[in-house]
Amino acid sequence: MLPPILRVACAVAALGPALACLADDRPIEEQITTLLGRMTLEEKIGQLTQVSGVDDEGRKLAREGRVGSFLNVTGATETNELQKLAVEETRLHIPLLFGLDVIHGFRTIFPIPLAEAATWDPELIEMAAQIAAIEAWSAGIHWTFAPMVDIARDARWGRIAEGSGEDPYLGARMAEARVRGFQGTTTDGRYQPERLIACAKHFAAYGGAEGGRDYNTVDISGRTLREVYLPPFEAAVRAGAGTLMSAFNEIGGVPATGSRFLMTQVLRDEWGFDGFVVSDWNAIRELLNHGSAATPAEAGEQALLAGIDMDMVGKIYPEHLPGLVESGRISQAVIDESVRRILRIKMRRGLFEKPYVDSQVEKDAPLRPSHRQVARDVARRSLVLLKNQGKILPLHKSISSLAVIGPLADNWAEALGSWAAAGKADEVITILEGLRKSLGPGANVIHARGCEIEGDSREGFDEAIAAAKQVDAAVLVVGEAAGMSGEAASRSTLDLPGVQEELVKAVHATGVPMIVILMNGRPLSIRWIAEHVPAILEIWQPGVECGHAVADVLFGDFNPCGKLPVTFPRSVGQVPIYYNHKNTGRPPSADKWTSKYIDLPSTPLFPFGFGLSYTTFEYSNLQISAGNEGEQREWTVTADVKNTGERGGDEVVQLYIRDDAASVTRPVKELKRFRRIPLRPGESREVRFTLTPEHLMFYNQRMERVVEPGRFTVWVGPSSADGLQGTFELTTTDNGS
Ligand code: GLC
Repeated sequence: MLPPILRVACAVAALGPALACLADDRPIEEQITTLLGRMTLEEKIGQLTQVSGVDDEGRKLAREGRVGSFLNVTGATETNELQKLAVEETRLHIPLLFGLDVIHGFRTIFPIPLAEAATWDPELIEMAAQIAAIEAWSAGIHWTFAPMVDIARDARWGRIAEGSGEDPYLGARMAEARVRGFQGTTTDGRYQPERLIACAKHFAAYGGAEGGRDYNTVDISGRTLREVYLPPFEAAVRAGAGTLMSAFNEIGGVPATGSRFLMTQVLRDEWGFDGFVVSDWNAIRELLNHGSAATPAEAGEQALLAGIDMDMVGKIYPEHLPGLVESGRISQAVIDESVRRILRIKMRRGLFEKPYVDSQVEKDAPLRPSHRQVARDVARRSLVLLKNQGKILPLHKSISSLAVIGPLADNWAEALGSWAAAGKADEVITILEGLRKSLGPGANVIHARGCEIEGDSREGFDEAIAAAKQVDAAVLVVGEAAGMSGEAASRSTLDLPGVQEELVKAVHATGVPMIVILMNGRPLSIRWIAEHVPAILEIWQPGVECGHAVADVLFGDFNPCGKLPVTFPRSVGQVPIYYNHKNTGRPPSADKWTSKYIDLPSTPLFPFGFGLSYTTFEYSNLQISAGNEGEQREWTVTADVKNTGERGGDEVVQLYIRDDAASVTRPVKELKRFRRIPLRPGESREVRFTLTPEHLMFYNQRMERVVEPGRFTVWVGPSSADGLQGTFELTTTDNGS
């Protein structure tokens, strides 16, 4: 037995680099260089390997230093156990990174991201991401595979639910807000410990899938890629996102996961990104399906040389990189660069100093009331009032009887939406529960399911009709199941599933005053309802505080202020349909020989940016003034907005521009600024925006990012379809060219 002093010395030596990092206050890059110099090729490739879930094989890999990250392992106990194998039993004690899809909450489930975008409130969404990070961190998670920042113009695509809709500018503001919320503040290059490393995904243009079919081919121009799909990723990178995830899809013949143009030229050379890129699930091996690689080894070579640093569950890197290095196809230097990036993020996250999570923290972090309150506020602000004919809403709490009808009225699970992490369905406040609580025990609230979400049974119609005939008002809650959107959930129609629309018609036929509430993960083509039902409230999938948020709005305790982040089509036949489209040589008009359908109006059912309030707002006095000569040119755009109703409420004031003529065609409108303002009844406020040449830039025919002289039209208003209009002239001197 060694004397005590020697035992201590051996213990210190055994902890080796971990202790060394503890005591090591050298710059992170120097520490990485030291560590790299000690690593074997197998240990390096281990860092590039990610495994899902934990089993004996996973524990063995962790113990041997042959895995760098796990996903889908949660809980302080579970993560600490695995971490202990890596930190205390491996030769170099490199800690593991634990990742999970914390998309819109961990235990406190917020509205789905598409709904969060409908708040048009980046600061609020930042707070929601921060709460998600605090809850997930306490469960041992270091890294979230979020924000999903894919622009979506095709509502058939199920993953439209996970992003921020169709607009690059709104999408970019939401992306940066979520990165800030997840990661917290970075001090001296170190991430805030009780937070999550963000992962902007899916790089890139995953939402451009033909036919809205998930994983399908994307074939878009370089200009559309740069101007529509890339801005939210660039915003996430500039906000400091530590990682990105590569997309499944190809773009114009090159799979994203094998694209050096995307992963190196754009991401690193142009944007200066120094974090790491993880592939999507098995996406490196899927290069074989794409046909851009003939063998698994070729797939590995292609992905690594493109700039994919970590292989999510595909096993291509651990199985084939040793051979590729041996044969000289891949240099150790390429491997070292990817390892460096991963170690850089682990060190920025402080994992070497604090690899474990205090299990007591997890016990203390249940579904806190304060978190629920924020979830309720986000949910209320995400609801979009689409119609309110005759001001049927808000309902009065003095109402003596109410029928709550439909398959989603008393449904816990569907309200959470897709990617609900550690959310628990039985913690959801259902709409029925929320309405009953608001009305109190004296009110007669009748619940009738009426029908299922899917299927053609009409057996429940009679009960629903009977309920509708005996009440003052009826609330119909219809829409989609959570599994009808999200990943691998593209639909060929945007109609309400099953016989739900027939149920709405049957209740409508009773003549009862009625409100339709839509619970869905994508725009729906609810043409009949929009024409016949007096009030429609889009609630998306509002999360754990669903029933409270709906009741707050339905009974007027909260004035709805959400705006659509995505266009609602009249029919799936119009898709893709989005506001920032091109004018074409024959824009739609009454003239037959123009770009339109002969059987449908060319306008959407509800436009991007649209949303009503219980009050009304009036816009006036649009002014556009140019900044002083010689200085950095900028234009100040002001407008007066007045609350002309009897209730206080928020208005999201939106500013759009059009470059009326340029060397390439420009969209008929582009959102460039927005601001949410609260206004008391009768209050008027001047809203002031500044436009700089940066807001006017586009890619010319040589794919150079430029501003060109000419006339610009400006709109300031309540949606993409309405507003005050003005113009300004950009002269050649303005943009310095
Ligand atoms: C899935 C998704 C991706 C997710 C990953 C890990 O296939 O495409 O968004 O983060 O796998 O769950």
